[in-house]
Amino acid sequence: MFRHPRPRRLIRVALTVALAASSLVVTACQSHPNSIFHDNTDWNRDVGFLFDLLIVLGTIIFVFVEGILIYALIRFRRRGAPRQPEHVHGNTTLEILWTIIPAVILVVIAIPTVRTIFRTGAAARADALQVEVVGHQWWWEFRYPQYTTRNPNGRTDTLVTANELYLPLGRTVNFALISKDVVHSFWVPSLAGKRDLVPNHVNYLWFTPDSTSAAAFNGFCVEFCGASHANMRFRAFVVSPEQFQSWTGHQLSSAAFTAAPVAPPATPSAAGAVAQTPPANPPVTPLPATQAGFIAWPQDSLPPHVIPNAPLPADVRFDDALPGVAARGADLLTRGQGACLGCHTIRGNPSMVGTIGPNLTHIATRSTIAGGLFPNDARHLARWIKNSRKMKPGVLMPTIGLNEYDPVVGAAMKVGLTDQQIADIVAYLQALK
Ligand code: CUA
Repeated sequence: MFRHPRPRRLIRVALTVALAASSLVVTACQSHPNSIFHDNTDWNRDVGFLFDLLIVLGTIIFVFVEGILIYALIRFRRRGAPRQPEHVHGNTTLEILWTIIPAVILVVIAIPTVRTIFRTGAAARADALQVEVVGHQWWWEFRYPQYTTRNPNGRTDTLVTANELYLPLGRTVNFALISKDVVHSFWVPSLAGKRDLVPNHVNYLWFTPDSTSAAAFNGFCVEFCGASHANMRFRAFVVSPEQFQSWTGHQLSSAAFTAAPVAPPATPSAAGAVAQTPPANPPVTPLPATQAGFIAWPQDSLPPHVIPNAPLPADVRFDDALPGVAARGADLLTRGQGACLGCHTIRGNPSMVGTIGPNLTHIATRSTIAGGLFPNDARHLARWIKNSRKMKPGVLMPTIGLNEYDPVVGAAMKVGLTDQQIADIVAYLQALK
């Protein structure tokens, strides 16, 4: 058959080495920020234990089997004239052994696996932080039903944010996962396993971020959900309990900037709002990293792996030199220009009560826009408002820029906002800390 067994043997050795090397590479992925091999939560430690157990058992079996193979290759290699090997028929002891040993190994794997499945599938502890995750094509809505406030109309408002999740260190968080449209899947690899968001059904997922330091993580949609499935991302920020308390208090406050008066620009509010009322694009102020006064993860100290780097489409042009005036932008939105009020809420601005799109009350505290696709800066925000459909395929948000081509309508928009109007709105949104 095989006249020269050496090449074949070499291939086998090479394949074996490659397999062992790839296992090592997988376990060495600790440095990768989006890997599951981070002991940040009870969930990931449980799953990590199972992974390690399988790797250790697999390695022992691999070394044992390959050892026997190599021994047999050397011990029984062809020497001298070929001869028929001695035939044996049946060995009861051997057969019993090689049935029992794998059975024992499978039991050793199955017991902790089943225990982990039951543990992670059980209900979360009663005092857990509750977060409702609502999947939308293609963005994430996060609601904190335990954090509410009574607004001036006497209505109770729940803390709602978009595409950015804040979690306190050391407290179990219980996610209730639902979808507004199609099936999505919620996954922050560095914190826990994935779980689907199914329309008309609530799934649950809980874990405790109890690593020793605050950190920022990437979250993804991991179930194909349409044209911009790959652009449905979010950020998860694990902060200290004090920072979380401060963040919730700030998120429940009304918008820092209100519509009136238009000119001159509004004076700083007496309510001690963190963002004063700048006339144009406000400078980025480093925020205190600890306790009171914390309103968001400081934009200038984001780890590189959570900063988006999607390219801007070349055919969405905007004059970045236009000076935007926040008060004018607020007035435009309040009067319904650009129809933003049809979809977005800005708590504190009585005209802005739409609920189809992300809540924008504190949009300036977020590090990204467009479902985590672009950084939240004036350059990206202006182009996003002007022609989001060129920025993110399939997005529901209509094209707002005057004379901009809308790929869904199939024509240029005869009604829309000028670059100056968009610059004003951008200035307003950037004041909404
Ligand atoms: Cu949502 Cu994929």
